[in-house]
Amino acid sequence: MSRTQHLLIFACLILVAALSTYTYLDKQNKATKWYSQAQVNQGAALFADNCASCHGVKAQGALNWMQPNEAGVRGAPPLNGSGHAWHHSLDNLIQTTTHGRGAMPAWQGTLTKAELVATLAWAQSLWPDKIYQAWLQQN
Ligand code: HEC
Repeated sequence: MSRTQHLLIFACLILVAALSTYTYLDKQNKATKWYSQAQVNQGAALFADNCASCHGVKAQGALNWMQPNEAGVRGAPPLNGSGHAWHHSLDNLIQTTTHGRGAMPAWQGTLTKAELVATLAWAQSLWPDKIYQAWLQQN
C-alpha cells in the first residue's frame, strides 16, 4: 500500500469517528418526548379553539400575566416554556386543566382527558429542548 492510500484510510477513519461522535452528542441533546406528533397536531387545533383566547395563540400567555387586575386576578400564564408550567409534573398540569384553578376554567365535561393531554402536548412541543430536559429531570 502506498503512503497516499494509508493517509486516505486514516482520513476516512477520522471522518467516521467525528460523524459518530456528532450523532451521539446530537441524540444526547434531544430528549425523547412523551407525546406523539399525532397528539401535537390534534392539540394545536384544540388549543386554538379552547385555550388561545386566554393563553394566546402561541401559548405566550396574557399580556402582563403576572400583574393581577383590579379584581386581584392574574392573567393566563404562558404555556410555551417561558412561564412556570415546567415546574409542574404532567399529572399536575392535567389536574389543573381538568378541574381548573382560580380564573382557569375546568375542562372536565368539555374536553376528554385525551384531548386535554393533546393540548398539553402541543404546548410542550413549543418548549425549548433545555426546558423540556429540566422538566423531565424534575418530574
Ligand atoms: C378564561 C381564560 C382561560 C382559558 C380559556 C384557559 N385558561 Fe388555562 N389558565 C388561565 C388562568 C387565569 C390560569 C392561572 C390560574 C391560577 O393559577 O390562578 C391558567 C392556568 C393554566 C395552567 C397551569 C399553568 C401553570 O403554570 O401552572 C395550564 C396547564 C392551563 N391553564 C392550560 C389550559 C388549557 C390546556 C386550556 C384549553 C383547554 C386553557 N388553559 C384555557 C386561564 C384560562
